[in-house]
Amino acid sequence: MPRRDSAVPPRWSHSLGGVARRPCSILLPGTATLIEAKEIIGDIADEYEPPEPEPMRRIDPHTLEIDARRLTMAIRSAVSCRKRGHSEGASGRLANRQRERIMPPVESDEAGQISSRRRVKDMTGRAKITIIGGGNVGATCAHWAAAKELGDIVLVDIVEGMPQGKALDLRQASPIERFDCEIIGTNSYEDTAGSDVVIITSGLARKPGMSRDDLLAKNVEIVRSVTEQAARHSPEAVLIVVSNPLDAMVYTAWKASGFPTQRVVGQAGILDTARYRAFIAMELGCSVEDITALLLGGHGDDMVPLPSYTSVAGIPVTHLIAKDRLDAIVDRARKGGGEIVSLLKTGSAYYAPSAASVQMAEAIIKDKRRILPCAAYCDKEYGIGGYFVGVPCVLGRHGVEKVIEVPLAPDEKAAFQVSIDHVKELVAVAEKLLG
Ligand code: LAC
Repeated sequence: MPRRDSAVPPRWSHSLGGVARRPCSILLPGTATLIEAKEIIGDIADEYEPPEPEPMRRIDPHTLEIDARRLTMAIRSAVSCRKRGHSEGASGRLANRQRERIMPPVESDEAGQISSRRRVKDMTGRAKITIIGGGNVGATCAHWAAAKELGDIVLVDIVEGMPQGKALDLRQASPIERFDCEIIGTNSYEDTAGSDVVIITSGLARKPGMSRDDLLAKNVEIVRSVTEQAARHSPEAVLIVVSNPLDAMVYTAWKASGFPTQRVVGQAGILDTARYRAFIAMELGCSVEDITALLLGGHGDDMVPLPSYTSVAGIPVTHLIAKDRLDAIVDRARKGGGEIVSLLKTGSAYYAPSAASVQMAEAIIKDKRRILPCAAYCDKEYGIGGYFVGVPCVLGRHGVEKVIEVPLAPDEKAAFQVSIDHVKELVAVAEKLLG
């Protein structure tokens, strides 16, 4: 939050009509440097007043002390220049330019939504997150990301009005929940330009009786098309794929984007592990926070939760839960997505999948280097040979920074192999469809 110790408002543009009466300190936006600040205030002042001794000094990384008299003169000059109608003159242009650097002009579309082309990011240092698909998973991703103030959010869908409506609704929640970020809904990929992270949720969701694999043919087309468009406008982004069947869709997005493997990653392991952890907490009647777990393999019913790498506050889970109960929990976690589908009847889970996706986005945007189970590209790793499958990896600013290999018992290795073979079959079909 901007902090200030004086009467000068934190946003200088708001202070153009005001007067600072005494020396003051104001907190600069995180991205502003001393040089930028000097350019903004110094140039305006230099235009109208003789240069003065050092008008500002850095007190700490966030606070800049400003000579209020000089600031006041600069503000008055800029304001009177505007009043005199000099906005077309060199001085007015300079004042306008400086003002716009502080607060860029807002571009609105017909629906009155602020355009992301404004590139708020340049001024605020906030990340830009594009979420493709405005359905339950996409919209809930936007919700979690906004609540965490992860960055400015662009929600894209082909359905006209729907992403705009959801984005506006979420924006209107911001004064209540107190998050500051731009949120726009759009049907145009131009609005996604320059995103740091793109979360791909588009595609059909399964209905009762369907497996994730049944979605393959349709979703290959959808994921290919949306990825191509997103990649064109955000060539530096990290792609997080959520669409199903997950592992084949990550592969599809990788092919369609032409991105390095490091910047394409699939969400599944965090979701599957979260289900597994939630069931363990329910069984033990303890906090979910104390449970850490690992899971390998594709996002199918043959995924491999690993009790040998599961602990409760450091205590191996096998000390706390009997084998038959633990086997039942593992089985329920594997089929966790299907359990929700059969309860909902009209679609698949979205709270947990979107929370998992946003946890990945957060690790990337904040360069947290979290170790999370994700569908990452593995070639030599685990001897997989060039496929995206669920493995523990380090997620940071560049995407997948590293895949971590852990030793596996023979039965775990065998179960992992079954899952990998399944992923390979799906990818073979996807490759044919991609042509
Ligand atoms: C699930 C879907 C989203 O597991 O894959 O719920």
